Amino acid sequence: MNHPKPIDYEIPLSNKRYIVSKTDAKGIILYANDYFMEISGYSEAELLGKPHSIVRHPDMPKIVFKMMWDRINKGKNIMAVVKNLAKDGRYYWVVTEFEPKIDPITNEIVAHTAFRKAAPRDAIETMIPIYAELLKVEASGGMEASEKYLRDFLEESNITYDDFIDDLVGNRGLFKLFFKAMKRMMS
Ligand SMILES: Cc1cc2nc3c(=O)[nH]c(=O)nc-3n(C[C@H](O)[C@H](O)[C@H](O)COP(=O)(O)O)c2cc1C
Repeated sequence: MNHPKPIDYEIPLSNKRYIVSKTDAKGIILYANDYFMEISGYSEAELLGKPHSIVRHPDMPKIVFKMMWDRINKGKNIMAVVKNLAKDGRYYWVVTEFEPKIDPITNEIVAHTAFRKAAPRDAIETMIPIYAELLKVEASGGMEASEKYLRDFLEESNITYDDFIDDLVGNRGLFKLFFKAMKRMMS
């Protein structure tokens, strides 16, 4: 995919709005809400049928998406702080969560919905150096090395990935409530 050239300019997000998208089991976009289009700068026609990596930012380490897919392929949720790339090269930081849609007959995952809110500033500031280090480790040692780096980092901090992200963003209560409400609305 031809990605836009990133520029060092952040798009501010509203705390009151959410970015929602739905994909098939492989991450091909099936639905995008208005705010997703407004912020990413892509029209509905440009998004539908495209891989979700259309908004992938090169500052994001691969390991984050690997962890994400490992988890959501099992029908489980994962919370992540993600830097995304807009069509004009600007970026925006979100906290994202997922909700799988499972076919009740075949028991297979048929779709994933992602709900995203503006990431809190201190969560962004915490993740910037971690992602930068993971990117560096990945560039020299590949994904295995970044997986190990992340594992060691969490072990040293004596915390699981989920608790770490939860501490960063989840415990603000409002986030939890918001995601719960969104999931109820969409299901
Ligand atoms: C429902 C859903 C939402 C996703 N949202 C994003 C997103 O906002 N930004 C992103 O970079 N990747 C997102 N992804 C992951 C992409 O599919 C892809 O794995 C990622 O961009 C890495 O791209 P790459 O594997 O081509 O490097 C999402 C995947 C799913 C299933």
